[in-house]
Amino acid sequence: MSLLELDHVSVRYQNAVRDAVADASLRLSSGDFLVLTGRSGCGKTTLLNVAAGFVSPSSGMARVDGQPIAAPGADRAVVFQSDALFPWASVRENVAFALRMKGVPRRERDRRADALLARVKLSGFGDKPVWELSGGMRQRVGLARALAAEPRFLLMDEPLGALDALTRERMQTLLLDIWAESGTGILMVTHGIEEALLLGTEVIVMTPNPDTGQQGRITRRIPVSFGRRYRAGEPVRAIRADPAFAAARAELADAIFEGELQ
Ligand SMILES: Nc1ncnc2c1ncn2[C@@H]1O[C@H](COP(=O)(O)OP(=O)(O)OP(=O)(O)O)[C@@H](O)[C@H]1O
Ligand SMILES: [Mg+2]
Repeated sequence: MSLLELDHVSVRYQNAVRDAVADASLRLSSGDFLVLTGRSGCGKTTLLNVAAGFVSPSSGMARVDGQPIAAPGADRAVVFQSDALFPWASVRENVAFALRMKGVPRRERDRRADALLARVKLSGFGDKPVWELSGGMRQRVGLARALAAEPRFLLMDEPLGALDALTRERMQTLLLDIWAESGTGILMVTHGIEEALLLGTEVIVMTPNPDTGQQGRITRRIPVSFGRRYRAGEPVRAIRADPAFAAARAELADAIFEGELQ
């Protein structure tokens, strides 16, 4: 079991008059799927970047297993909204990148890359250049590449944001399957209300609050169990049709748009 903790984290960017994130705390354990949501500009990416080690808190602490997070590390893999693949390299080389950095021999890393490609349902695409793939396929390569490092935590910033609705639904169940198989702790940012409810074990809502001169506070934490029901064998269609899902949807939408005229 591993634990990533953000403890009363605030971030103020240089020359900014307000905190981008104010006093945010969260705990991500192995096997959790935390979803961070909220209106644009409320500090979601900033908070994820603190967990990744790209941004240092101005106050508060970020830790993995008690050790302060000082820099990005192989224990925390990041999947960005844009796929951020290496365009000159093949699909297999992209996936195997972290293994290459670790000095894993060629044959072994090809074998592991192909196994990961099978896991994201891209068997047989290893030799293709990435520019021949669709957006959804590229996101799956990005996911396979992140998993190659066998991270303890997977941090994803709107990983499905650019996909069409049908591909996005398929990717949601793929993410749930990978979460179930890998046992990693996932922190994911999304604007999708249903996506947040379907995937998360806890949905964390951030709200900008210009009245107090501060932004990016965590204003709600909603425990959810729909993803666990999927893991237990219930079809996604049945889960979405459950009146409890509609009620949760309304509650989450209210929490996100609280204080805003509708
Ligand atoms: N590198 C930066 N330097 C200065 N200010 C920044 C920087 N990155 C973000 N900000 C500011 O911090 C605030 C929070 O930005 P952030 O990107 O974390 O929001 P977000 O919730 O991810 O928004 P979105 O949903 O649009 O992606 C915004 O006011 C933004 O302008
Ligand atoms: Mg963002």
